[in-house]
Amino acid sequence: MAETFEPKNIIVTGGCGFIGSNFVHHVVREHPEVHVTVLDKLTYAGNPENIAGLPVDRVELVVGDICDAELLDRIVPGHDAIVHYAAESHNDNSIADPEPFVQTNVVGTFRLLEACRKYDVRYHHVSTDEVYGDLAIDDPARFTEETPYKPSSPYSSSKASSDMLVRAWTRTYGIRSTISNCSNNYGPYQHVEKFIPRQITNIIDGIRPKLYGDGKNVRDWIHTEDHSSAVWTILTKGRIGETYLIGADGEKDNITVLRAILKAMGKPEDDFDWVRDRPGHDRRYAIDSTKLRTELGWQPQHTDFESGLEATIAWYREHEDWWRPAKAATEAKYAKQGQ
Ligand code: NAD
Ligand code: DAU
Repeated sequence: MAETFEPKNIIVTGGCGFIGSNFVHHVVREHPEVHVTVLDKLTYAGNPENIAGLPVDRVELVVGDICDAELLDRIVPGHDAIVHYAAESHNDNSIADPEPFVQTNVVGTFRLLEACRKYDVRYHHVSTDEVYGDLAIDDPARFTEETPYKPSSPYSSSKASSDMLVRAWTRTYGIRSTISNCSNNYGPYQHVEKFIPRQITNIIDGIRPKLYGDGKNVRDWIHTEDHSSAVWTILTKGRIGETYLIGADGEKDNITVLRAILKAMGKPEDDFDWVRDRPGHDRRYAIDSTKLRTELGWQPQHTDFESGLEATIAWYREHEDWWRPAKAATEAKYAKQGQ
């Protein structure tokens, strides 16, 4: 294990999005010595409400674009680390309009790496298991840090590109970086465009849930709180230049997840619509997180999917004010795509 890094003043990009805001809550709760500057453009996916109510002496929000080099020159000096979550994150959007994905995910990462180089700031890069492409349903293999990159979608290829920039900047310029590639997250504050919140809020609204293709695509679910503790572990204990895969052994096919949601919400298990499949839809993701567990001693704590799902359903029931403003536009976009 490397020497422990003890950051005091970090920048969290995308800290008003789903996973970034959960990470900010985690840091405020678990690490009282740390100040967080959230840098977020507040796109359709960013909501300042996600971090509202956190102590103002611990969390500052800077509204801006990670692609803005002058802004980075103003805010990066004085920080000891950047934890980079900001991204265009939704596969379906990347298929409909890939350009913002190249801009934010590739160019934005480039700008942050340049700022880290200039100001000698440590960098943690939050990435996805989708960079490895997909596995067949019956393949006994899972992704490891050695799996070759083979992204399928505009989203995952933009994330893979950003990972490559991090590796090159680390080797060539000596950036002090780590990378993590995590599987599918669920939990509070996830945008209603994503699978689990979309189905929960559809049911609340009396709309039938929508299942793509044959419903047998497998995702490896992890509670976002476990993702946060893993990222903190890697930031503070990970070896510079290393990649760590994050996963909690949560493989499930989509129809199983959907039936669990329907059951938990008191609906018949076949009360949903089959809709058009996603073009290029990855079949299965599966993470082997042995390296993170054995080298850094991390363990997931929220592995009971049923109870995590019930808590998530309760959160959406209790926070209609939070998701309601985005719901109609999201469903209108899906309707146009036949989904
Ligand atoms: P999200 O879409 O919910 O949030 C993205 C955030 O980034 C938003 O607050 C948005 O306003 C901000 N943002 C977008 N473009 C920006 C820009 N140019 N400058 C500054 N801020 C900008 O995304 P998420 O699901 O929370 O994902 C966060 C990160 O985690 C992404 O890098 C994603 O690739 C990665 N990831 C996500 C998952 C998952 O299951 N959602 C799994 C593994 C990795
Ligand atoms: O694996 C990590 C990735 O997980 C992250 O990198 C991405 O940012 C994140 O969005 C997520 O990607 P997916 O494409 O797997 O997530 P999504 O919630 O869009 O879809 C999950 C599965 O559910 C996928 O197989 C498509 C399917 N689906 C999705 C929607 C929105 C449906 O069947 N119906 C739907 O309405």
